[in-house]
Amino acid sequence: MEQLQVPRGSGIVLVVDDSEANLKLLAMALDGVADVMVASNGREALEAVAQESPDLIVLDIRMPEMDGYQVCTALKRDPHTKDIPVIFVSGLSDIDDKARGFALGAVDFIGKPFDIAEVRMRVTTQLHLKQAMAALARSNEDLEHRVRQRTTDLQRALERYRKSSIDTIFRLSKAAEYKDDDTGAHVIRMAYFSRIIARTMGLPQELVDGVFYAAPMHDVGKIGIPDRILGKKGKLDEEEWRVMKLHPIIGSRILEKGDSELIAMAEVIALSHHEKWDGSGYPHRLGGTDIPLVGRIVAVADVFDAVTSHRPYKEAMSFQDAMKILEEGRGRHFDPAVIEAFFAAMDEIATIKKSYSDQSSQQLTGAELSIPSAVKGEFQ
Ligand SMILES: [Fe+2]
Repeated sequence: MEQLQVPRGSGIVLVVDDSEANLKLLAMALDGVADVMVASNGREALEAVAQESPDLIVLDIRMPEMDGYQVCTALKRDPHTKDIPVIFVSGLSDIDDKARGFALGAVDFIGKPFDIAEVRMRVTTQLHLKQAMAALARSNEDLEHRVRQRTTDLQRALERYRKSSIDTIFRLSKAAEYKDDDTGAHVIRMAYFSRIIARTMGLPQELVDGVFYAAPMHDVGKIGIPDRILGKKGKLDEEEWRVMKLHPIIGSRILEKGDSELIAMAEVIALSHHEKWDGSGYPHRLGGTDIPLVGRIVAVADVFDAVTSHRPYKEAMSFQDAMKILEEGRGRHFDPAVIEAFFAAMDEIATIKKSYSDQSSQQLTGAELSIPSAVKGEFQ
């Protein structure tokens, strides 16, 4: 039979036997196969393993004091030594105990009297197996590392994509807002008010987050309304109103067929934020729960911010007066449940109104036309 070749130094084998003659014989048998350490009893064997971990242990079963089974049990109990393969050395009379040996974790048996070629072959096989297992473990580790790295790269790319999408949304919303509100702060406050209302209503987190990012796009359709109408100081005449009322439809056309849930929600909001609970709104005169919930939420946030904001053609209304308007609109213009949530969160609403005032946003010019730093963390 062709002998398996393992280069010297490719492994360390600890041979444990209480018979000096056997130790010598086994050491000789393993010459050229591996580096050999020897121990003449169980205690010595455990001490040797603690000093230097071998790649394989050839362990005699019959030994005084601590027998091979006890040594093997101790090795398998210790996390540092449990993976060292053990080959038991057994006399013919121990043959019935093989099952016990395998149960204790032995990988093979060598019978006495020794057949040198058999000893070399069995040890070589186990060393090869150990090396192959170690190589496999290293390769698995490497693979896991690469998978982790790719996952992290992918997450970063997705995060960059998400940020740039939201940044684009914000800029588009702001572009529309600049046409009739030269601060852009309205869209930020709207986003916050809508999120606060959604959260107070106990809506699912995806909806709370979604309305936050989608609400700023509610008036994107104003891009399509002529400046002479948007910027008119006085009251709009009938024809001008007819044109003005087209902005929800223009907005929904700008946003239609989007391939993200966010843009789909923005389309719904753009189309429905001027509908009224009693069916008297526009463009489709929807009523009650036929109006999408996000549209009902944004309607309240939009009206509240509009009436409490200063414009060149009107003074800002006080909080108390604005609340009166909302209260009067409960069940007529507005969904009563949305009004309920809005009033319940009044403190938070007031804080946002103060934090993102038109004055603070007017300071943003030129290169800073991007997201105000105060809300960057939220919008990005
Ligand atoms: Fe609008």
